[in-house]
Amino acid sequence: MDIRKVGVVGCGLMGSGIAQVAAMAGCDVVVSEESRELLDKGFARIHGSLAKLVEKGKLAAPDAEKTKARLKATTALGDLKECDLVIEVIVENLDAKKKLFAELGRLCKKETIFASNTSSFPICEMAEASGRPERFVGLHFFNPVQLMKLVEVIQAKKTSSEVVAAARAFGEKVGKTPILAKDTPGFVVNRLLVPLLHEAVLMVERGDATAKDVDTGMELGCGHPMGPLKLLDYVGLDTTLFIMDGWYQRYPADPMFKPSELLKRMVKEGKLGRKSGRGFYEWEGDKVKA
Ligand code: 3HC
Repeated sequence: MDIRKVGVVGCGLMGSGIAQVAAMAGCDVVVSEESRELLDKGFARIHGSLAKLVEKGKLAAPDAEKTKARLKATTALGDLKECDLVIEVIVENLDAKKKLFAELGRLCKKETIFASNTSSFPICEMAEASGRPERFVGLHFFNPVQLMKLVEVIQAKKTSSEVVAAARAFGEKVGKTPILAKDTPGFVVNRLLVPLLHEAVLMVERGDATAKDVDTGMELGCGHPMGPLKLLDYVGLDTTLFIMDGWYQRYPADPMFKPSELLKRMVKEGKLGRKSGRGFYEWEGDKVKA
């Protein structure tokens, strides 16, 4: 099944990135949000990213204009009914996601494939809520979507092999390398990444090393583009705590999933990382302050 028309529900950081790469790949994209204000904010982010790509010579100016023309904004979910694929990128709240998919299941044509970009919830629960679990798949992108080359394709228990193949082909179409993962906590990448980031927090909490030295260690010792604490700031301390809390509730016997006091305290104090301007580092936009 060739995916030409894509719906993206949610136009935050990840949703706008996914909408942008889909439109850059030639898909017609309908982006849905709860309000015009959120749509304007998301579209401004997309236009800013396209301008950056043009400025760096990575995208021709006419292609940026064509990309913009392929993106439509809406506050009416019904406008997604003819999409071949609808990707959910709303707030990480399982009830809200289930409610959304139940509604999409009623609205969309029967061939529409549904996907969730969740990083914390089991795909199978949303799949059941949609009423078409065989046409439901996980599509987990990475931040910043415009630059990161991976997409995880998550096959839940009832996802058909035809839908997995279509999701993989879509991932390739938008310039990503797909990897196939089962519907387990964290799939492949976050299952390895979140414990790494959290272990770095524990090192700072115990006073084993400073945040700067932990990061320098992993940047120079392992060639990571960002050390774990800078990356934690980049992803968001609240996002990471949310993921760990969910895992810990589901698997309380596994100490690896237990969030540290330092992480909880920083989130409570509003030190969320890049998004609040302060975390383990101070941030100015996308950059750590010198
Ligand atoms: N759109 C377009 N261009 C962008 C952009 C965007 N959104 N963001 C950055 N760029 C461009 C910059 O202009 C720059 O262009 P240039 O090389 O031509 O000057 C280039 O991309 C590189 O950006 P920067 O100079 O800002 O910085 P870096 O060279 O350090 O690269 C990075 C930034 C790609 C983010 C790199 O630091 C990196 O790979 N970091 C790790 C990111 C990572 O691990 N992400 C995964 C997080 S986990 C996740 O998302 C899962 C979730 O579920 C938690």
